[in-house]
Amino acid sequence: MCKKPYYITTPIYYPSTKLHIGNTYTTVAADAIARFKRLTGYEVMFLTGSDEHGQKIQRIAEEKGIKPIEHVDEIVAGIKDLWKLMNVNYDKFIRTTDYYHVEAVQKIFKKLYDQGDIYKSSYEGLYCTPCESFWTESQLVDGKCPDCGRPVETSYEEAYFFKMSKYADRLIKYIEDHPDFIQPESRKNEMLNNFLRPGLQDLCVSRTSFDWGVPVTFDEKHVVYVWIDALSNYITALGYGSGNEELMDKFWPADVHLIGKDILRFHTIYWPIMLMALDLPLPKKIFGHGWLLVDGGKMSKSKGNVVDPVTLVENFGVDAVRYYLLREIPFGADGLFNNEVFIKKINSDLCNDLGNLLSRTVAMVEKYFDGVIPAPTVKEDIDDELINLALEAPKKVEKAVDELNLPKALEIIFELIGRANKYIDETTPWILAKDEEKKERLGTVLYNLAEALRFASVLISPFLPGTSEKINEQLGITAIDFESLEGFDGTAPGTKVNKGESLFPRIDVDKKLEELEALRAEQMKAIKAKEEEEKEKEMKPLKEEITIDDFSKIDLRVVKVIDCEPIKKANKLLKLKVDLNGEERQVVSGIAKHYKPEDLIGKYVVLVANLKPVKLRGELSQGMILAASTDDDSILTLVDPGKLPTGSEVR
Ligand code: ME8
Ligand code: MG
Repeated sequence: MCKKPYYITTPIYYPSTKLHIGNTYTTVAADAIARFKRLTGYEVMFLTGSDEHGQKIQRIAEEKGIKPIEHVDEIVAGIKDLWKLMNVNYDKFIRTTDYYHVEAVQKIFKKLYDQGDIYKSSYEGLYCTPCESFWTESQLVDGKCPDCGRPVETSYEEAYFFKMSKYADRLIKYIEDHPDFIQPESRKNEMLNNFLRPGLQDLCVSRTSFDWGVPVTFDEKHVVYVWIDALSNYITALGYGSGNEELMDKFWPADVHLIGKDILRFHTIYWPIMLMALDLPLPKKIFGHGWLLVDGGKMSKSKGNVVDPVTLVENFGVDAVRYYLLREIPFGADGLFNNEVFIKKINSDLCNDLGNLLSRTVAMVEKYFDGVIPAPTVKEDIDDELINLALEAPKKVEKAVDELNLPKALEIIFELIGRANKYIDETTPWILAKDEEKKERLGTVLYNLAEALRFASVLISPFLPGTSEKINEQLGITAIDFESLEGFDGTAPGTKVNKGESLFPRIDVDKKLEELEALRAEQMKAIKAKEEEEKEKEMKPLKEEITIDDFSKIDLRVVKVIDCEPIKKANKLLKLKVDLNGEERQVVSGIAKHYKPEDLIGKYVVLVANLKPVKLRGELSQGMILAASTDDDSILTLVDPGKLPTGSEVR
């Protein structure tokens, strides 16, 4: 049978800063959906990738003194490592620097130009470099970038423009006719009312002020400006423009573009219009999820509240992190990340509810039936509620996933888990075990528990793949099969259970919170230290310009140190006697931290010879010795004139 195709994408990430738990969310959510669709029989294409061009990347690379491609190679490797750590199983990873993408973008740009949708003009606007966005005056918030709150600069340059306005009415109609196109609903109205209906401005689609981008083939000083390059990835990844359209035919239009709400405007306005201009069908759904916030709002490096997914995985395991992300970001709204809530959630849902259900069930099968799952032979009415809940769960979970309501899907699964725990309390197997005549009933109860756990394991596998595997191992489940959930009889009596480690060991909340706090403080210290270091790297601004005549007033001469001693009570200073072509001079110099008197005697140095004498700490100083040093004087070296005769001029 030919499987139905399902195409899901995440945004392609900027390789600028390290990913935090917030932007990890989009891709973990897409992974859960992709895994669920595979489980339910679809042929899935799950695309993610990296968005590597632009001025910001070029600047970062320049600051690091490396080529942009070297910078992005390094960061992209880190992004891929993170997805591996998060157990993200994508089908394709596209990089906008991939040659096939670059070529396809060039073709797209040329086609749009040839058919008159792109035209050349010039641009004057308010530009936010970190966000790579132009803004109009009215879009600014307190005169700053509405996305990131940083200052914008007025920028003017020759640029190509996309005639967005030409397609605006068609798009408004499309959105009105397809109520599911923009999800959630509230965001749809925001797009219509704030952007589309007031009148759409044409979009700037090329830049000349930097060159780290896809070159415009017919006008070489231009590179394609970010959004045409970035958004096209969803079709170039399928081979659009490559001559081989097999994947396009199979997977386009996409079933869903999953994105954060901050980039909804680009995906629901510019992208559909680009597709209209290319005469391609529009994606079926664009879902803009909310933000993951921390106490105090958005995560930011300077606030020191950036939550690092790697730290969390190291401390709690990947499935605990996946669980929290998928369960706690309410459908379509912002969610909160908080260590305490997170740990308590692990303890209550994963350790108590799921973990204990498994360990109790396996332990009882071992204790009462020598580790072999018995056959269900004695049914009672009380079983029905559990069985019916299990049998209804697959359809309900599937519906929730199709609506992209992942918290709801998990809620349904955990309802079943909760019901199974309650079933243990209701049937009291330990009391049944005392009565030999109730042995068959006891067997039925344990069978039902094992079977309920099998349902839970299959259903949870897209969300917590590793946990599902552990459950399967302990219960002897060999195949994860969604169709087998049509009947409550998929566990074969006689299957051996294998007691394993507990799925989620109970966490001591206070102790763990302290540990995390200590870790955070340490990381904060490291960040501060690094910032300091960066600051030191910055050069002091140059002084005001002078003329050659100004400079020639300074008389620099080679002198030889003939004697040197410390100055009492001034531990930074040394008193030097120097020879200037037979004339002896005394100079006080603040170099005691760097040179010992005995090292200096016999050394040739440069003296500012016509400096007006002064008294320092009661000692006469007839001139000044030249030294190169860092701003804070932590490193200092005397200027070395070689062994030229004393009195020689330094110019
Ligand atoms: O926007 N909570 O890339 P990106 C939830 N390259 N989601 C968050 C988040 C948070 N705190 N912070 C970021 C880009 N995100 C473009 C996309 S697509 C053709 C080009 C989400 O690296 C954000 O909304 O800035 C986006 O979905 C994803 O992380 C990557 O963001
Ligand atoms: Mg962003």
